[in-house]
Amino acid sequence: MATRHFLSLLDLSPAELQAVIQRAIALKKTPLNQQFSGKVLSMIFEKSSTRTRISFEAGMAQMGGSAIFLSPRDTQLGRGEPIEDSARVISSMTDIIMLRTFAHETIETFADYSSVPVINALTDSLHPCQLLADMQTFEEHRGSIQGKKVAWIGDGNNMCQSYINAAKQFDFTLSIACPEGFEPCADMLASNSERVRVMSSAEAAVSEAHLVVTDVWASMGQEDQQSERLSQFAPYQVNHHLMANAAKDALFMHCLPAHRGEEVSHELLEDPKYSVVWDEAENRLHAQKALMEFLLS
Ligand code: CP
Ligand code: NVA
Repeated sequence: MATRHFLSLLDLSPAELQAVIQRAIALKKTPLNQQFSGKVLSMIFEKSSTRTRISFEAGMAQMGGSAIFLSPRDTQLGRGEPIEDSARVISSMTDIIMLRTFAHETIETFADYSSVPVINALTDSLHPCQLLADMQTFEEHRGSIQGKKVAWIGDGNNMCQSYINAAKQFDFTLSIACPEGFEPCADMLASNSERVRVMSSAEAAVSEAHLVVTDVWASMGQEDQQSERLSQFAPYQVNHHLMANAAKDALFMHCLPAHRGEEVSHELLEDPKYSVVWDEAENRLHAQKALMEFLLS
């Protein structure tokens, strides 16, 4: 059977994604087992990380396996060894690989040459592992997200584009509010036009939403645009005033790290009536254990 990878939410069927989420919820109750005994995860990070690194590494340890942290600074990847060669070598010695990189094409090439499952731990285009955690978190707090309304506020970035894929796979509608020029990929919007809408008004996007989500205004790799983006994105802060437009029991999510006072107010981020960001962060651990179990089985 062909090796399964997880480069995008579209790599698993809706039923497989549901099974991973349910398994994540179960694993959260009984975190320790020896299912990954003898298995080794390679973790390649070309960008910084707190949550992703810790959740993958702890997840492997809790299930009896081990993980190797590989940074380009200390490996031949950073000295120009081709992705194709690195993928063949790393996959010949370890059982599963996660990669955080810049261009999405890099992980596609890596997966093409890998003989073991490859997991997207964030590219400039997508962050599907975060969506597993977000979907688990919604399910735990509010039940099924099917048929619900989700609002994405801010940059049309890797997280926003992962929400477009999630809208399709988990069957919800998505309203995206972003400043002109910061919309997500036009092709993705065109192929999801029946359930995804883009608008400029944050108030309109949030109207009656069951889940409101945002992310930093400048992602990793865009640090030089941080200050100019501040003024363009100013009308897009998610705060209590904006949340007043949402459904009565709306939740707020943010993949973190958050910039308080920019994309989200300090008060909203810390308000447990809406904000489930700490559960969301913890669920990276449970969701990725379930994902690795799926890919290794
Ligand atoms: N949300 C997320 O992926 O966090 P890190 O960058 O800390 O891994
Ligand atoms: N959009 C953010 C997500 C960080 C987890 C970034 O790419 O930096």
